[in-house]
Amino acid sequence: MEISAKKNEVNDIQHLFHNHFSENPQLTVISPGRINLIGEHTDYNDGFVLPAAINKAIQFSVSKRNDSSIHLFSIDKNESFSTSLDSLHASGLLWPDYVLGVVSELKKAGYLLHGFSAAITGNIPIGAGLSSSAALECAAIFALNELFQLGIGRLEMVKLTQKAENNFIGLQCGIMDMFASMMGKEGYAIKLDCRSLDYEYFPLKLDGYKIVLLDSQVNHSLASSEYNTRRQECEKGIKEIQKKYPEIINLRDVTIEMIEKSVSDPVIKKRCLYIVQEKERLLNGCKDLQNGDLAAFGKKMYETHDGLQHLYEVSCKELDLLADECRKEKDIIGARMMGGGFGGCIISIMKEDAIEAITKRISESYQSKMNKDLKVYITRIDAGTHIEK
Ligand code: GLA
Repeated sequence: MEISAKKNEVNDIQHLFHNHFSENPQLTVISPGRINLIGEHTDYNDGFVLPAAINKAIQFSVSKRNDSSIHLFSIDKNESFSTSLDSLHASGLLWPDYVLGVVSELKKAGYLLHGFSAAITGNIPIGAGLSSSAALECAAIFALNELFQLGIGRLEMVKLTQKAENNFIGLQCGIMDMFASMMGKEGYAIKLDCRSLDYEYFPLKLDGYKIVLLDSQVNHSLASSEYNTRRQECEKGIKEIQKKYPEIINLRDVTIEMIEKSVSDPVIKKRCLYIVQEKERLLNGCKDLQNGDLAAFGKKMYETHDGLQHLYEVSCKELDLLADECRKEKDIIGARMMGGGFGGCIISIMKEDAIEAITKRISESYQSKMNKDLKVYITRIDAGTHIEK
């Protein structure tokens, strides 16, 4: 399904908004999910990432209210939640919290808001590692910025949504997901330096190949607590390294030799090694893409999977099996687990005319070895958050 290309779906949300709130929405925002080609768990280590927005998105329709209440309606869950601007607290339903978190950060930053009504729908699979939550946060802030004419620039909106996730949801995520959703550009990946926030649009020339996601359908409950643990482990690593090399600010600045000489804890050492290797892989991988050497890039994707499996330890048996199945296929250039880990999707680069046969084979093997259905998404690189006219 390609939301941004389908006018009738926008009309659907407007119609459903009207049914629910008995008025027309003033505007509808589309905000996409994301993939990440390479550079995993590097964003919160001041490293580089290479994400892109995809053709799966959240739709968010909104209108102003005359009071200070917030009325939210999830079309897909058929659930409503209401609260007041003056009492923002966790809803107990989770999905409203992504909007409330954004409102809370806007308030903290001193932006003047009024009440609003919003209806939400989308086709980003939840828990698949495609950042449906960042897409919702970006949709909400973009819509409110427009509705109340707050005058906030895109980069500032990205920073505020990251704060919303960190402070209201409690996931200490980096900036990649929001950045990709907000700043995406059709046909381009974004090479983002997560320290300086300098970025470069990278044309993705995949002649004859497609980015295909294999959804393990494992939605691991450990993901967010383990994510925060990985962050702490990286911080411990930095403290250790700083004792010997005080000039170091972050793992971005570290070499493998420094880790070997200063980190004794074997777990922390593995985490640090992965991050430093991944930074190098990304920088070299970007050169591969510039040189049109997809084969070299694909090899690095498999190396990233190995690192996430054995050193960073954020994979799971289902993802490892899928990565192994991909390695057997000559028409898959590269594949790896993507996102935070413990479930979600494998990202792969597959020869277009072999997709059907390959995904059939992998699905059968996955079903027989893991007793699970595989979902397959063939992605297109799409535009970032925007208003649907
Ligand atoms: C999640 C986080 C991101 C990033 C990835 C791993 O998606 O939200 O900030 O750290 O995991 O690369």
